[in-house]
Amino acid sequence: MVILLVLGLVLSLANAQFSRDFTVQKNHNMARVSGTWNSLFMASDNMTRIRENGDLRLFIRKINILKNGSLKFDFHFMVQGECVAVTMVCEKTETNGEFTVAYEGENRVWLSETDYRTYVIFYMENIKNGTKTHVLAFYVRIPKFEKSYLKRFEYVCKIYGLDSQSIIDLIDKDNCYVVPKRT
Ligand SMILES: *[C@@H]1O[C@H](CO)[C@@H](O)[C@H](O)[C@H]1NC(C)=O
Ligand SMILES: *[C@@H]1O[C@H](CO)[C@@H](O)[C@H](O)[C@H]1NC(C)=O
Ligand SMILES: *[C@@H]1O[C@H](CO)[C@@H](O)[C@H](O)[C@H]1NC(C)=O
Repeated sequence: MVILLVLGLVLSLANAQFSRDFTVQKNHNMARVSGTWNSLFMASDNMTRIRENGDLRLFIRKINILKNGSLKFDFHFMVQGECVAVTMVCEKTETNGEFTVAYEGENRVWLSETDYRTYVIFYMENIKNGTKTHVLAFYVRIPKFEKSYLKRFEYVCKIYGLDSQSIIDLIDKDNCYVVPKRT
């Protein structure tokens, strides 16, 4: 009995440790996140904001790290059938991988995880009119669905308390997407 309790405690401590390390992964090399990205999935605890006509339904184009450490996101979204470009400069904070930006309220943005080469996951906390909303975004270098991406995203969403029903698929939903010229 005692052994089981101790084992349980050790396991829950291990889990707590894991999720803390996971959500606040240190030492991201932000420069390597620069470049072209495509939105593949999003998730939120308020679906209205990421569904069609949602104010946080944004399609990523490009991420650049600026000289002063800010992170510049080039997005576009649809407004009444028109593609609108929006640039968001997220100011860096004292915490590595954490940024703030005003857009449809106040936001705190974290780079959750990335392999730099194929995918990146951002986590955002939005406060608009006193209401807090959590959003996760999964971006890929090459706009192509992979089962393993969805599995990974589901796993990460769960850590942030969002189940798979909170996930929307953005592939082929990007009406502004123009196939880039091969160089
Ligand atoms: C979800 O977002 C919509 C649109 O901004 C808002 O009207 C609604 O109150 C939000 N719901 C919750 C539960 O925050
Ligand atoms: C960093 O540079 C960008 C672009 O020049 C600017 O918009 C932003 O305000 C700067 N941030 C800080 C903290 O100086
Ligand atoms: C903000 O919240 C207040 C109080 O809940 C509400 O009366 C007001 O209509 C909201 N404003 C917007 C823009 O949603």
